[in-house]
Amino acid sequence: MFNLDQLVADCRAVLREDRSQGFIREVVARTVSEPGAVLAALGDPKSAELQTLYHAPDLTILNVIWAPWMTLLPHNHQMWAVIGIYTGREDNIFWRRVGPRGQKIEAAGARALSVKDAEPLGSDIIHSVTNPIPRLTGAIHVYGGDFFAPGRSEWDPETLIEQPCDPAKIARQFADANAALTRHQRG
Ligand SMILES: [Fe+2]
Repeated sequence: MFNLDQLVADCRAVLREDRSQGFIREVVARTVSEPGAVLAALGDPKSAELQTLYHAPDLTILNVIWAPWMTLLPHNHQMWAVIGIYTGREDNIFWRRVGPRGQKIEAAGARALSVKDAEPLGSDIIHSVTNPIPRLTGAIHVYGGDFFAPGRSEWDPETLIEQPCDPAKIARQFADANAALTRHQRG
């Protein structure tokens, strides 16, 4: 049975005892090993959103719902993260810095995540995320810090040049994705 308090307590125990991301991955893997229980607790995804389940200076847990075919531009976190999928699919492209000042990026790898997958991301990772299927995808994202703290970067999806992360732009992207979803559902 999924229990948010238990998930927080388990993550907190790892941070207290070890601080190793690998153990957080095990916690997240255990959580999404019963996707039906997560869906029962969090509800069936209805719209794209970044839902905050837990927020502290050293730990953030989000319920991330991706709209069908939605792509979030390349961005970094500047803290480790673990992504666990409980419904749908999430494709990650991983990027690396290139060029003299390292402000541009090039694709460096990819990982297709499916239900029950729990993927650890290093603290220096740059990724973009796509939901490649025609229904909502739901994932538990655990971050080893304050996800909403300023100072992160995103990369322009056309030029691939670094710029400060703009939370308002991300919010607009989710709103646009929901508007497209509504249009699609109305046919
Ligand atoms: Fe991310």
